[in-house]
Amino acid sequence: MPHFRLDDGTRDVVGKEIAERTASSVLDSDDNEAILANIGAHVLRNHLPGQILAALESFPVTGHHALVLNNLPRQEFPATPVHGYGDEPALAVVNSVHLGLIQLLGMTPYAVDYENRGRLMRNVVPNPAAAGTTSSWGADSEFFWHTDNPHLPFGEAGLDPRGYVPRYLTFYAVRNDERVPTEIAAVEELIELLDAALLAGLERPHFVVGSPDSNDFADSPQLIEHSPILERDGISRHRARYDSGTTRGESPEAEETLHRLTEALDRVRGSELVLEPADFLVFDNYRVLHRRRAFTPGPAPTARWLRRCYAS
Ligand SMILES: [Fe+2]
Repeated sequence: MPHFRLDDGTRDVVGKEIAERTASSVLDSDDNEAILANIGAHVLRNHLPGQILAALESFPVTGHHALVLNNLPRQEFPATPVHGYGDEPALAVVNSVHLGLIQLLGMTPYAVDYENRGRLMRNVVPNPAAAGTTSSWGADSEFFWHTDNPHLPFGEAGLDPRGYVPRYLTFYAVRNDERVPTEIAAVEELIELLDAALLAGLERPHFVVGSPDSNDFADSPQLIEHSPILERDGISRHRARYDSGTTRGESPEAEETLHRLTEALDRVRGSELVLEPADFLVFDNYRVLHRRRAFTPGPAPTARWLRRCYAS
């Protein structure tokens, strides 16, 4: 996995320049997304080392599963918006950094109307209202290995991404005093743990995969039937759709396959990424499983806070 760290000098120059360019107007992440992205991409392109720029630009075609960039600019941060939504214009600097990085990755950020009230930026926070749920707003329940929104069809380049499984998940970490890891594992790591019969079982279209807790509308698009868990993309790489809470077998045999999958997933090690403030992470949600273990949130104003944006 490509993993880079900005030196402090570059971080400070980028942060100062983006702050100056965003200071004179109100820039909202939903209404002014393109302006924020263009400012961020412009400044980052001018100052990031060529090696990092090349890694970002080539990421979607390299086949890498994830990329991490540490020590980005930060800014004055308000209290963690534990109820889910906060003052977006107050986060113009980090939104510009985040959206600028997505632009340098050659990706399009997007929101979906079935989640997060249609807002572009998801505050991944321990929301008291989500206690006991497996959601990006949860904390006290383990969110076992899964892919996000696995109940939708897989998309491809050149389509409106909103009706498909989100291709990439991007994160900017604001605070993580609890040091909760974001765990990611390549689909290939799972496959290496499967015997031929189990792999074949997971490739059979005899599963139902439903929408996750984070979907706002109980009646929005809602499950996919007669689906495999593992399938091949157009260039023969495996991709996965899976959420243990919403995936069922359509026959006793399929249920047994799911049971054996759970056992295999328990042996997946993956990578534990403890995101620090001002770290950026992007991973391929078609070819990576992720999980978050249960944790005890710190005091609400400084509780764990990641910013997530879908990209395609
Ligand atoms: Fe997730």
